[in-house]
Amino acid sequence: MASVLAAILALRDAGASGVLLIVKNYTGDRLNFGLAVEQARNRGVAVDMVIVADDCAFSQPSKAGRRGLCGTVFVHKLAGALAAEGRPLEEIVCQVKEALKNIGTLGVSLSPCSVPGCLPSFDLPPGEMELGLGIHGEPGIKRLKVATADEVVNNMIDHMTNPASQSHLALKSGDSVVLCVNNLGALSRLEMAVVTRAAISCLEGRGVQVARVMSGSFMTSLEMAGVSLSLMKANQEVLRLFDAKTSAPAWPNQSGVRVSGRSYTLDPPAVGTDVSSQSEGPLSGVMANTLEMVCSSLLQRQEELNSLDRASGDGDCGNTHAQAAKAILEWLHSHVVPGCPGQLMSTLAGLVQERMGGSSGALYSLFLTAAAVPLKDHCHPAAWATAMHAGTEAIRRYGGADPGDRTMVRTPKMVPCSLSTWYQLVHIRVCRSELGAESTRDLIARAGRASYIATERVTLPDPGAVAIATILRAVFQSE
Ligand SMILES: *[C@@H]1O[C@H](CO)[C@@H](O)[C@H](O)[C@H]1NC(C)=O
Ligand SMILES: *[C@@H]1O[C@H](CO)[C@@H](O)[C@H](O)[C@H]1NC(C)=O
Repeated sequence: MASVLAAILALRDAGASGVLLIVKNYTGDRLNFGLAVEQARNRGVAVDMVIVADDCAFSQPSKAGRRGLCGTVFVHKLAGALAAEGRPLEEIVCQVKEALKNIGTLGVSLSPCSVPGCLPSFDLPPGEMELGLGIHGEPGIKRLKVATADEVVNNMIDHMTNPASQSHLALKSGDSVVLCVNNLGALSRLEMAVVTRAAISCLEGRGVQVARVMSGSFMTSLEMAGVSLSLMKANQEVLRLFDAKTSAPAWPNQSGVRVSGRSYTLDPPAVGTDVSSQSEGPLSGVMANTLEMVCSSLLQRQEELNSLDRASGDGDCGNTHAQAAKAILEWLHSHVVPGCPGQLMSTLAGLVQERMGGSSGALYSLFLTAAAVPLKDHCHPAAWATAMHAGTEAIRRYGGADPGDRTMVRTPKMVPCSLSTWYQLVHIRVCRSELGAESTRDLIARAGRASYIATERVTLPDPGAVAIATILRAVFQSE
C-alpha cells in the first residue's frame, strides 16, 4: 500500500493532472490499491481506479469472482493512448470501463509455475493440461488431456464464448477482435507461432474478423509452460487507440507482429492438380518420352549414386533421385503432359519440391521454377538456352555455389543459338557434364554438404554432379 501511494504522489509531484490505477481483480490488490486511492484523495490528488476482471474461466457463479488476467495489457494500452492525447481522467475512466466489458481471457498450461525456492504451485501429471488458471500459480478450473494446438485452441475459444457460461465473452460471427496470444513463460517461439496460427484460423473459421494480433510474453507466471488467449472486441475507436504510437519497450511495435485481419494461410502447393484439361501439344509426346528416359536412368543408377554419396554425405543421393523419378513416373502415368514446356517445368518443380525433399529437392525445384519463365510463351532453342541459364543462375544465387566448388553446378554458361547448333551444344554439354562430374573428383568442396568433410577423404566424383550428367545424357539420347 505504501509503495502504491508513494507512486501516486511521485506522479503528482511530476506534474500529472490525474492518476489512474489499473488493478487486476484480486482481493488483496483491490484492498491495498483502494486504500492508496483513498489516502491520495485525502491529499487532494485526482486519482481513480478501474478493476480488470477479464477471466473467462468460471462457468458457474463463483465466490472468487473473475480475476484480472492478460486482458489488462489491452487496458494499459487504451488508457495510455487516451492519456497521451491529454484526455481528462473522467473521460479515460469512462472509455476504459466501456472497453472492459468487451475483453475476455482464458489460459491453459502443461506445467505449474514454480516460485524459485518453493515447490510447484500444483501437481500436473504428464499428459494432462490445466485449463483456466490464474497468473499467480493458482490451479485452473479443469483438467484436459493433452491435445493438438488446434483442438486446444478450439476448446478454449468454445469455453470463452459459451453463452451458458457465467463469465463468457459474447462473440458472434461478424465481430471484429484484437487477439493477444500470451506466453505464460516457458513456451518457445515455435510453439507460440503454432498456437497463434491456430487461434487466428479458429476465430476466422467462426466468422470473426481478427483485426490485430499480438503474440509474445506480456504477462507471465514465471516459467509456466502455457499460454493464454485474450480477445478484445474492437471498433474503429478501439483500434485507433490500440494502434497509437508508443515507446513503451514491451509493446510489440515492429511490423510483422501485428497483422490485419486477412487470411494469410498459404495455399497448398499445386502438386497433383489435374492437368488433363490443359491442351496437349506437338511437344507433349517428346517431353513425356524424355522424362521417362531420365527417370529410368536415374533409377538404374540409384545404387551407384548412393555409394558415391556414402563417401561424402549420408549415402542417400541415389534414393532421393529415385524418389523424384518415381514421383514423376507416377505423375506421367496419370496426367497428360502439357504442351507448353514452361507449364511442365512448373509442375515438375512442384513435384520435386514435395516428393524429393532435402537440399537436392530445393535445388532442382529452384532450377525448374526459374527455367519455367523463359519457356512460358516460347519453346524455340534460344528460349531453352535462356531457361537453362536462368535455372543455373537461380541455383547459384540461392545455393551459394559456383562451378568449381564441387557441387552439382558444373554447367557452362549457355548462349542463345540456332536449332542446328542446339543439338551440337546439347551433345557437347552432355560430354562436358560427364567430364565435369568426373572432374569434381579433384575439386575442393567449398559449398554443399561435402564442404564439411576433410578434403583428403573426398576422392570420388560428386554424386550430385553425376546425377546431373545422367539426366543430361538421358535427355540427349531420347532426342
Ligand atoms: C472481482 O472479484 C470479486 C470477488 O473477489 C467479485 O465479487 C467481483 O464481481 C469481481 N469483479 C468483477 C468486475 O467481476
Ligand atoms: C516503437 O518503439 C520505438 C521506441 O522503442 C518508438 O520510437 C516508435 O515510435 C514506436 N513505434 C510505434 C508504431 O509505436
